[in-house]
Amino acid sequence: MAQRTYRIAIVGTGGIAGAHARAVRDSGRGRLVAAVDVDADRARAFAKEWDVPRVFASLDELLGAEELDLAHICSPPDRTRRWRRGASRPASPRWWKSRRSSRSTSSTS
Ligand SMILES: NC(=O)c1ccc[n+]([C@@H]2O[C@H](COP(=O)([O-])OP(=O)(O)OC[C@H]3O[C@@H](n4cnc5c(N)ncnc54)[C@H](O)[C@@H]3O)[C@@H](O)[C@H]2O)c1
Repeated sequence: MAQRTYRIAIVGTGGIAGAHARAVRDSGRGRLVAAVDVDADRARAFAKEWDVPRVFASLDELLGAEELDLAHICSPPDRTRRWRRGASRPASPRWWKSRRSSRSTSSTS
């Protein structure tokens, strides 16, 4: 049976985001469909490097425009608490956080 390919976004396209993009690519199970960053130039450069079709300036914009299965949160933790709370809604994607900032916080849909 064919395996499902997950639609994945990267939120925060700084230093650690490339490692997450590589992991998605190497898994063979995911497709990066969007990149989000408040720094538009950084997001565009990341999208170009990793062949990500859409770029957004905020998580709210992303969630209004894309159907996701997963989002990798690679932005600083102080920016993401509100998002993680919002992510407990059933219709929201599952969230993967960059490990160093996720010890007390990993949440799922
Ligand atoms: N760099 C590492 O080796 C490493 C390893 C493990 C975990 N982490 C954790 O991952 C997180 C990110 O680390 P980094 O080194 O990539 O930081 P970074 O500063 O290089 O990148 C963070 C990115 O998030 C973006 N950002 C900030 N606020 C945002 C918002 N509201 N919406 C969207 N994007 C936003 C910034 O513009 C920036 O591009 C941190 O919590 C860090 O502790 C980093």
